[in-house]
Amino acid sequence: MTSDATPLLSVRGLEKRYGARIGCTDVSFDLWPGEVLAVVGESGSGKTTLLSCVSARLEPTAGTVSYRMRDGETRDLGRLTEAERRFLARTDWGFVHQNPADGLRMRVSAGANVGERLMAVGNRHYGRLREAGADWLGRVEIDAARIDDRPTEFSGGMRQRLQIARNLVTHPRLVFMDEPTGGLDVSVQARVLDLLRSLVADLGLAAIVVTHDLAVARLLSQRMIVMKAGEVVEAGLTDRVLDDPHHPYTQLLVASIPEA
Ligand SMILES: Nc1ncnc2c1ncn2[C@@H]1O[C@H](COP(=O)(O)OP(=O)(O)OP(=O)(O)O)[C@@H](O)[C@H]1O
Ligand SMILES: [Mg+2]
Repeated sequence: MTSDATPLLSVRGLEKRYGARIGCTDVSFDLWPGEVLAVVGESGSGKTTLLSCVSARLEPTAGTVSYRMRDGETRDLGRLTEAERRFLARTDWGFVHQNPADGLRMRVSAGANVGERLMAVGNRHYGRLREAGADWLGRVEIDAARIDDRPTEFSGGMRQRLQIARNLVTHPRLVFMDEPTGGLDVSVQARVLDLLRSLVADLGLAAIVVTHDLAVARLLSQRMIVMKAGEVVEAGLTDRVLDDPHHPYTQLLVASIPEA
């Protein structure tokens, strides 16, 4: 075992500019193995920009992101080759998009959507791929009888649960989620959230969850950062930030949650 005294991910002084416009600036945080970090803030505050930079999908203008690889070596993501980055994205990382269609192959079966990620990491045995597909459909509460159906035939909530299965089947160490329940009806959000929470806990996953919904942050994360106009205005343990917000902007966000 590598030492848990080293963060899984370290972000230092991260900035992304789109021309003169600031996407995010001066962002620093550590993410520890098995920890869930929520990134909250209003629309346009830089949440997606930050997530894209941290997951090496977007090149930052300044700053560094280092990641502790499976072999224990910490690497600067900006210095990985394209092939290394793609390999990480296929194996060590998961990415749950707000819109399931962005994270699924809509024209192939549910079973193939799950099996494909396993094939990408070298599994070739048809029977075992199918078995893993069926197992994961069960874990995300999709009837195994639907294994040959395409996502186009699924409801929004089922699609999102399938996307989660497709991402988790390879046992990633880190999952990036951008508004994972944002596109769902309120009535199905709770079930997807509940499922996410138990899977993340069972698998000991680390995750970064972008959301504008403080209830999502409360349910899923141990720590959170609050962004405003591209900057982190507050960071801390989720319970502390939500129960005793220090920054006026966080106070405003917390005060505007409707009473349950
Ligand atoms: N591709 C782009 N080109 C230019 N500006 C961009 C681009 N993407 C984002 N921005 C700008 O960067 C800022 C942060 O945008 P970002 O999408 O990261 O916000 P967000 O917090 O994810 O918002 P939302 O909650 O609406 O998804 C905004 O001012 C936005 O206009
Ligand atoms: Mg966004």
